[in-house]
Amino acid sequence: MSEQNKIPRRTVLAAAAMSSAVLAVGAARAQTSGQAPSQAQAANGKVAVVTGSSRGIGAATAKRLAREGYAVTVNCVVNRDLAAGIVKEIEAAGGRAIWVQADVSDPDAVRRLFDENDRAFGGVDVVVSNAGIMRLAPFRDMSDADFIRMVDVNQKGSFFVLREAARRVRDGGRIIALSSSITQLRSPTYGPYAATKAAQELFANVLAKELEGRMICVNAMAPGLVNTTLFTDGKTPQQIAGFAARTPHKRLGEPEDIAGAIAALCNSDGAWINGQTVFANGGVV
Ligand SMILES: NC(=O)c1ccc[n+]([C@@H]2O[C@H](COP(=O)([O-])OP(=O)(O)OC[C@H]3O[C@@H](n4cnc5c(N)ncnc54)[C@H](OP(=O)(O)O)[C@@H]3O)[C@@H](O)[C@H]2O)c1
Repeated sequence: MSEQNKIPRRTVLAAAAMSSAVLAVGAARAQTSGQAPSQAQAANGKVAVVTGSSRGIGAATAKRLAREGYAVTVNCVVNRDLAAGIVKEIEAAGGRAIWVQADVSDPDAVRRLFDENDRAFGGVDVVVSNAGIMRLAPFRDMSDADFIRMVDVNQKGSFFVLREAARRVRDGGRIIALSSSITQLRSPTYGPYAATKAAQELFANVLAKELEGRMICVNAMAPGLVNTTLFTDGKTPQQIAGFAARTPHKRLGEPEDIAGAIAALCNSDGAWINGQTVFANGGVV
């Protein structure tokens, strides 16, 4: 768990204490589906690039894939210390990883990210286009800067990552783009963010068809209500408790829940799931 994500989790626990409906939040952390052995399995000879993996869902995914034997390239845009920390955790558990600072909204930086991965590990089998930001406001109040940055990072950035993935992922690989369950929930203030996430579902479906004959599966993963700073920042403890209470399991998702779902798409059981949007939201939609 990153330093940044410790704070919101405490916030969630405080919120849970206020509402008996969400008492399960703290206890449920031990029940997340993403539980995995702490030591890395033997190297599987495969390589994964996970964008935005210094914290949150990306960090959990990088660690999970490393435990499953992948060599992993971790990526951040500003939090170099956190990215380096994820690499140290992976190495301490017996895995292999490097980290690369690269802003996914810059196509040259994205090419460099993949070049550095190739230099370190010789190629790539799994790409998780996870880096993302969320800015919320009603249409009338959304600033030019917030809208443009969201499009730059979430939509253009993911396109640049998926384009490199289309060029470089080896036969039999996996490409996963992070959408969001907000494409179904469609709540007020989420319009521009939801649109950048809906793009991932179209990207994945079309790219899956373009890569025909190479046994590569391309899917969108659409999480919902996951306990990271992206979701909790700007919300009161009461609001967070209210979101947790709306889920059938009466808790927020944890990054490890989503990492587990992504890992399932990456292994051989995911071979027939292609061009789809997979929702992982605890049943809130
Ligand atoms: N949390 C949820 O409830 C939820 C629900 C649905 C979908 N998602 C999606 O899941 C993905 C991960 O979300 P999260 O909740 O884990 O977010 P998070 O905790 O805020 O982490 C975001 C990650 O993206 C990186 N990042 C941000 N801008 C970047 C850029 N321009 N270039 C490279 N990396 C960048 C951050 O790096 P730094 O540390 O360097 O800033 C960080 O590693 C996002 O695409 C989000 O839309 C999240």
